[in-house]
Formats: sequence, structure tokens, C-alpha cells
Amino acid sequence: MTRKTVFSGLQPTGNIHLGNYLGALRNWVALQDEYDCIYCVVDLHAITVPQDPGEFRADRHEAAKVLMAVGVDPERSLFYFQSQVPHHTELAWILGTITGTGQLNRMTQWKDKADVAGSNLGLYSYPVLMAADILLFRAEAVPVGEDQKQHLELARDLAQRFNARFGDEFPVPDPIIPKRGARVMSLQDPASKMSKSDPDEGSRILVLDDPDTIRRRLKRAVTDSGRDVRYDWEQKPGISNLIEILSLFTGKDIPSIEAEYGEAGYGTFKDVVAEAVVEGLAPIRRAYRDLDDAEGARLMQRGTLDARTRAEGYQQKVRELVGLAD
Ligand code: TYM
Repeated sequence: MTRKTVFSGLQPTGNIHLGNYLGALRNWVALQDEYDCIYCVVDLHAITVPQDPGEFRADRHEAAKVLMAVGVDPERSLFYFQSQVPHHTELAWILGTITGTGQLNRMTQWKDKADVAGSNLGLYSYPVLMAADILLFRAEAVPVGEDQKQHLELARDLAQRFNARFGDEFPVPDPIIPKRGARVMSLQDPASKMSKSDPDEGSRILVLDDPDTIRRRLKRAVTDSGRDVRYDWEQKPGISNLIEILSLFTGKDIPSIEAEYGEAGYGTFKDVVAEAVVEGLAPIRRAYRDLDDAEGARLMQRGTLDARTRAEGYQQKVRELVGLAD
């Protein structure tokens, strides 16, 4: 039996935080045991906002290193930089010709950016490139956080539209969104998601943060009125976010956390969450320290070659179907 193909990507902008980890990366790592996994540092997506070329080059490699420390294993998964495999953009162009502008106009991430200075065509067509990433390798499942759901819908639509027009070529990919952790919220504003681009560093915890930083960030996390530790996103979004984080790091279910810490008070509860996060992230920090940069770069180069070979076979089929192969 052939194994299911899984694809996912992460932008190498800034630092990788608890939202990325709990929403997506934990699944990336776990899925490697069973599936044919393809993971990609999506650097072409990242240049839709201005980057300093020198810093960006370093950020790309840094992101690859952090992903390896988290557990992405280049020996088991195909792992590479998107920009090094030109088939992504070739397929994106072809898919762009069957994408309605009406559908792109409805993308919420685009709507937030459409009227902002610096908005550009890359940001507008961003979801089409993402669809191409997924469909290029005929992925059947895509582990992502909640915020990517709408983009995944577009990938599914484009697969179906292409198949209807040119022949049954693409599987329709399913999102893999975790039941909990799919939307980790900002520690400073539990109404918005934890994000790499939030100017307030206190809003997030990075997977490489040292124990003191983690403790400090959690101590200062915004909580809600009242003092009982209760899972209730309506009334207590701040505490609910922390409960969910604790549950994911300890494997304890939410009712037992409520039973254990319901009366403990916010201060004590935050300390408990902090220690669980410190302990949970410690292996990642250790693995990161032990990784060798030159070896990491070599592995990425090998990944590029493998990805190009595999992508070429698939992409040739698309060219044939569309009438672009001679
Ligand atoms: P990116 O780089 O913003 O985020 C990487 C992954 O982390 C998830 N995530 C979160 N999950 C829970 N809570 C949060 N606060 C949180 N913030 C981020 C994201 O959902 C994502 O899974 N467009 C994608 C990258 C991409 C991609 C792809 C993903 C490009 N091509 C193809 C899947 C398949 C993005 O910007 O992710």
C-alpha cells in the first residue's frame, strides 16, 4: 500500500513561536512516522513583505535549523527551500489562470492587507502559490493551524477545477487541523492570534526562548476578571488560552486541569504553565544547540535536488494536460 502524501510549509519570517509549534509543527513531526511527508521553508511567500536580503538569507537557514530542532527529520521527510524548486512558481502561474479574482478578493488575510501601504500582487496571489505548493506533490493532507483553513479551501477548489477541465490529476487535499492548539492566542491580547509580526514581543513565546524569558512572558500574560481557572473562551479567553497550552504540554485533559487548579489563583496557575512550557521546549533548545550549520545547509541542498527531481516528474504531467509539453 502506498503511503499518503503530506505537505506543509512555514514562512521564514522572524521567529517560530508556540502557535506555530502547537498549531502545526507538532503534527508535522508526528506525521513523519506514518506518511510520506514533504516540508518546505516557503521563502517565496515571505518576500511578499520587504526583506533585507542579507538578513533574509540568514533567516531562511535559521528557520530550517529550528524546524530540524523541533523534529523535522530530513532523513525521513523531503525538506527544502521553496525558492530552490522553480516548479512551485510554474504551477502557480498555471493555477492562477483558473483562479477567479472574486475568490481572491474574498480571502480574509488579503482583505486585511489590501488597502495597506506596501500591498502588492504577490500578497494578492499568495494563496495561489500556496495551492501550487500543495498540489505540486499531489499532497492528500496538509497539517496547518486554523488561520490557513480558507487558503486550504482554495487549494481544494483549484484541484477540483483543474481536474474537471483537464483530467483527473490532483487529489483534493484535506486539512489536518488539531482539535486544540489550532489557534494559540496572543499573551497580551487574547482576542488576536499569536503572531510573528506582532510588534509586542511579550505577546508570544518562541520555541527557542530561554526559561527565564518564558517565565517572564507568562507572568505578564493578560488574564481575565475573576480568579477561578476555568475553560471558557467567552468569559475567560486569557485563561482558556493558558489552559489549552498546559493541556498540550502535559497531555492532561481540560476538565482535570480545571479540577486541579480551579481554585489555585491566576498567579500560581501561570507558574505551573510556565514550568510545563519550559520543560516541554527544553529538548528543542538542546537539539538546536547540537545542530551543525554546515551539515544543515548540506541537508537542505540534498533536499532541493530530491524535490526538483520529484517535482519535475509531476509537473511534466501538468504540462501535458494543459498542452504545454512538446
Ligand atoms: P506561517 O508561516 O504563518 O505559519 C506556519 C504554521 O503555523 C500555524 N500558525 C498557528 N497555529 C496556531 N496558532 C497560531 N497562533 C498560529 N500562527 C501560525 C499556521 O497555520 C501554519 O500552519 N501560508 C502559510 C505557509 C504556507 C503553507 C503552504 C502551509 C505556504 N505554502 C502550503 C501549508 C501548505 C503560512 O504563512 O504559515
